[in-house]
Amino acid sequence: MSLDSHIESVLWTPDQIAARVSELAAQISADHSPLSEPLVLVGVATGAFLFLADLARSLRLPVTVDFIRAESYGSGTVSNGSPRISSDLKLDVSGRHVVLVEDIVDSGSTIACLIAHLEAKGASSVSVCTFLDKPSRRKVHFKLLSKGKFYRGFECPDYFVVGYGMDFAELYRNLPYVGVLKPEHYK
Ligand code: IMP
Ligand code: MG
Repeated sequence: MSLDSHIESVLWTPDQIAARVSELAAQISADHSPLSEPLVLVGVATGAFLFLADLARSLRLPVTVDFIRAESYGSGTVSNGSPRISSDLKLDVSGRHVVLVEDIVDSGSTIACLIAHLEAKGASSVSVCTFLDKPSRRKVHFKLLSKGKFYRGFECPDYFVVGYGMDFAELYRNLPYVGVLKPEHYK
């Protein structure tokens, strides 16, 4: 079974994604070197798994990697607005510079919750590197911790997108491109 036929249009191809990920990695490497301790990459599970894998391999910095999971979605296409952390970090981030790696920032409530959580754990700074950003849908205006920066791959129009880690009902994550899902497949 191929899921390509469920896609209405492709927004970013694998080549476009790879080129942008390299640029982001170069920017993050430049902004964070030299560092006295490895940068902590915290991937937001599950959606960031491919982006984190590609980004980490392009960074020219020592890093450590961990994952965190925040739940607010269920299987719908709209967040219920109050995320909670359902799987926490293994690494100690106190006194460390952290980059939260996300697939997409939509309302902003997930990332706001995660920044507050890392702050409470004593991170020295928290940056956000999101593959996609949907600023038109922002409801929560999060503040980055300390000298943290906001990195984003692409600004995403207000469509429900899947692929390159992003899902609908846990499907489509392994598509190598980002596409708009045909409405008949999420209604
Ligand atoms: P927020 O808390 O509303 O910013 O939602 C963030 C989370 O919702 C992201 O980490 C994604 O997992 C999910 N999400 C938001 N928009 C989309 C989309 O268009 N496709 C797939 N997942 C999405
Ligand atoms: Mg996510």
